[in-house]
Amino acid sequence: MNDSSSNSRWKASVSASVMCIDWLNAGQQMDSLKAAGIEMLHWDIMDGQFTPDFSMGSSIINQFRASTDMRSDYHLMVEEPSRMFDAIELSTGDTVTIHQECCRNLHRDLVALRRRGANVGVALCPATPLDVLDYIIEDVDYVLIMTVNPGYAGQPLVPQTLRKISDLKRIISNMELDVKIGVDGNVNFENIPKMISAGADVLVTGSSGLFRKNFPLDDSLDRLEVAINEGFAQK
Ligand code: DX5
Ligand code: ZN
Repeated sequence: MNDSSSNSRWKASVSASVMCIDWLNAGQQMDSLKAAGIEMLHWDIMDGQFTPDFSMGSSIINQFRASTDMRSDYHLMVEEPSRMFDAIELSTGDTVTIHQECCRNLHRDLVALRRRGANVGVALCPATPLDVLDYIIEDVDYVLIMTVNPGYAGQPLVPQTLRKISDLKRIISNMELDVKIGVDGNVNFENIPKMISAGADVLVTGSSGLFRKNFPLDDSLDRLEVAINEGFAQK
């Protein structure tokens, strides 16, 4: 994952959840994200099994990818995600995150992803305890704490996931690892300061943050910056 540089507008890494973009104005919104210095696009891929709904597949994603140099942050919400690895296009610096709950053999899948050159992440649903990471955390670059149940945009925060972020931060520092913590789900301007002060490094921001209906994207970008800075001030 990227480390936001000190001279960047963004003190935390921001990953824009494309599923929540204004599809009728997608080109324009992509230009605004780029101009604002957003460096990562979050691709929610769902299979209708692990998640009740579907989202987008490679034909849509690759069209976007061909028109930008922003890095890709793939979030595979699919059973046995290794079935899909061949379909994923990767460029330097891209991250692929798979769900612990979906893998019969998580370690084997992470090794396979790493061989393809991806940064590798593990996502945990709200009810999944952190101890599933006990013997895998050394092998990942990124842990994505789901702050809602995967599957839909626009859901309310599961509040105890804030405690999970700080618990994970403590584990990572005690083990002196360089593992980034991401948060995904209801990453809005009220929750961001709490998420940052708990230890989140990467914010996946969708319909409740960046891409709010009927609000200009530039206004949401400004509010996002304020909320992130507020979180750092509370640390
Ligand atoms: C949820 C998805 C998220 C979602 C987040 O299953 O993984 O990426 O788009 O956006 P909001 O802000 O709608 O929770
Ligand atoms: Zn996601």
